[in-house]
Amino acid sequence: MARIEKIQIRNFKSYKKYNLSINHQFKHIIIYGKNGVGKTNLLDSFAFFSNTKGLRGNGLDDIFPINESNAVNTKVKIELSAKNIFYNFIYEIVREDSKLKKKILLDNNNISLLGIKKFINFIWLTPHMDKIMYEGQSLKRNFIDKMISQSDQYFSKSILAYKKNSAERLRVLKSSKDEKWLHILERKVAENIYDIFTLRRKYAEELNNTIDIKLKKFREIKIEFSNNLFTDLTDKNDSINLFVNELKNKRQLDEITKRMNFSINSDRIIFFDQENKTSTDYCSTGEQKSSLLTMILANCWKLKDNDKEFILLLDEAVSHMDNSNFEKLFNEVDKFDTQIWYTGTNKNLFQVIEKKGFFIHLQ
Ligand SMILES: Nc1ncnc2c1ncn2[C@@H]1O[C@H](COP(=O)(O)OP(=O)(O)OP(=O)(O)O)[C@@H](O)[C@H]1O
Ligand SMILES: [Mg+2]
Repeated sequence: MARIEKIQIRNFKSYKKYNLSINHQFKHIIIYGKNGVGKTNLLDSFAFFSNTKGLRGNGLDDIFPINESNAVNTKVKIELSAKNIFYNFIYEIVREDSKLKKKILLDNNNISLLGIKKFINFIWLTPHMDKIMYEGQSLKRNFIDKMISQSDQYFSKSILAYKKNSAERLRVLKSSKDEKWLHILERKVAENIYDIFTLRRKYAEELNNTIDIKLKKFREIKIEFSNNLFTDLTDKNDSINLFVNELKNKRQLDEITKRMNFSINSDRIIFFDQENKTSTDYCSTGEQKSSLLTMILANCWKLKDNDKEFILLLDEAVSHMDNSNFEKLFNEVDKFDTQIWYTGTNKNLFQVIEKKGFFIHLQ
């Protein structure tokens, strides 16, 4: 069981100074209050322990309380227990060589964002993520890619290598067009693309299985990848040769357009709603929210299988859900032995879990 027990915040967005202790008998924590009281900001202050941009894709200078940008002394501390061990995590925003830096400490020793993930992961759902379900391909692909990166370092490395090698290839296309060097780079890019395509399909299959086993009663969806260039990737050499050829054929076009016309973005992705028998693009807002949660919860089961601790942050998750769907969601998240944070504008939204939750009223 992972849980935050104490929080101290100094100069984080709307919070100048804020301390909070959580009753550790509860694993469901509900923050409620009017629009603009700081519900999302509170969860956001945790999210910065997990990535560089928080819940809303902010830069470090967005964190300082407005009108107090000279007071560079943001500090967030959480006391957290995971697997019955206590940890003190702190981050401070400091200005070094006129640049803002986030310094993270675990029990007074420096630690990286990657290092933290060994102890705790923050998984979230925010209203900003709703558009993943109805807005085109790239948001969907990025969402899945991010989840894969969380559990598979080789995947993140492949993405980085792909970006580096393809940028280098475009540079060579623009300058020397050295045939030998281009050939070597295209082979590397093709290998990176192959790794990324196979890992995406493997992950989708695993997630689909988890959904089938664990989340059928919630909302069943299926993640499907496809690509116009091939139907399967079983033969690695054939696939890589196919990609090398495709890259070679696209050289002129790439040079003119200054971008990769065959790339990891050529993968098509569909979230297929099994109940409505259609892509989630055409489902209702509440159905889309449930489908998104299905994937997030399936990812949580994967983390659990890998013995990784996580805390769930559900910002406004219930706002488009009817009572019956919220009850279903509650039953699903209750199966995890971990802390779950919810936000909402009204306490009544959480009637279903009135006796099971620790309620915090922000005003
Ligand atoms: N850097 C900042 N400095 C000071 N205030 C900020 C900063 N960034 C955001 N805010 C303010 O913090 C307030 C609380 O924002 P937050 O998103 O946490 O509200 P909320 O309680 O989640 O509201 P809602 O119910 O509308 O989602 C907002 O009024 C916002 O303008
Ligand atoms: Mg909010």
